[in-house]
Amino acid sequence: MASTYFKRFRMEADLLIPRRPPVLPEGYRLVAWNEALLDAHARTKYRAFCDEIDAVVFPCLGDLEGCRRLMREIRRKPGFLADATWLIARVVAPGQHAWCGTIQGVVDKYGTGMIQNVGVVPGHRGGGLGSLLVLQAMAGFGRAGLRKASLEVTAENASAVKLYGRLGFRRARTVYKVVEDKARAASRGTASARSSATSQSASPDEAMLSHS
Ligand SMILES: CC(C)(COP(=O)(O)OP(=O)(O)OC[C@H]1O[C@@H](n2cnc3c(N)ncnc32)[C@H](O)[C@@H]1OP(=O)(O)O)[C@@H](O)C(=O)NCCC(=O)NCCS
Repeated sequence: MASTYFKRFRMEADLLIPRRPPVLPEGYRLVAWNEALLDAHARTKYRAFCDEIDAVVFPCLGDLEGCRRLMREIRRKPGFLADATWLIARVVAPGQHAWCGTIQGVVDKYGTGMIQNVGVVPGHRGGGLGSLLVLQAMAGFGRAGLRKASLEVTAENASAVKLYGRLGFRRARTVYKVVEDKARAASRGTASARSSATSQSASPDEAMLSHS
């Protein structure tokens, strides 16, 4: 069966290099991990990734149930680090927030802080939220005593590669992710069906969540 190979960079950053603490743009707030937020992470992940290249490379990112499964898997990992796992909410009214960014961190067996998925929902990009989430996760790894952070990024995701480079990540390795063309076609089909479904069903629940 025909397959496509996606080039991915493994990038690493030294956590011992001092970095300026991230500053939140006005109107946004960071929300620390708690178990009740698993679904908010999954939904924010879905909304950030569903129309992006990584939803082709990892079809689960283009599917809400897939994002929920992925979040449960991340949470179950022995190295899951709550202090490197954050949401960003935009305050829309007193007591009401729209989720707009997500990141999770896991410590691997070598003691490296692995950034899982950083995602910012379209409409909230370009204002520093993605950088802030990565810095916040790195700070969490640092507080846990780790020396190195690592992540993988699809090579053609140029803006993400550039963002990580700006934050001190350097390419350590190139790896390839094989995606069967059948799975690719299925994921493209889902993406176009989903685009129309999303625009019809931008329900208050999906776009905005109450958070106390
Ligand atoms: C990659 C991603 C997380 C970046 O999120 P973001 O919030 O746009 O990130 P930032 O705003 O911090 O940085 C993006 C750009 O905005 C610029 N920027 C940062 N702060 C800014 C500010 N205050 N005002 C205007 N622009 C700003 C940055 O310079 C950066 O530009 P660059 O491309 O020249 O580096 C987001 O595009 C995304 O969710 N993509 C889909 C999911 C994905 O691919 N995730 C990465 C997986 S490895």
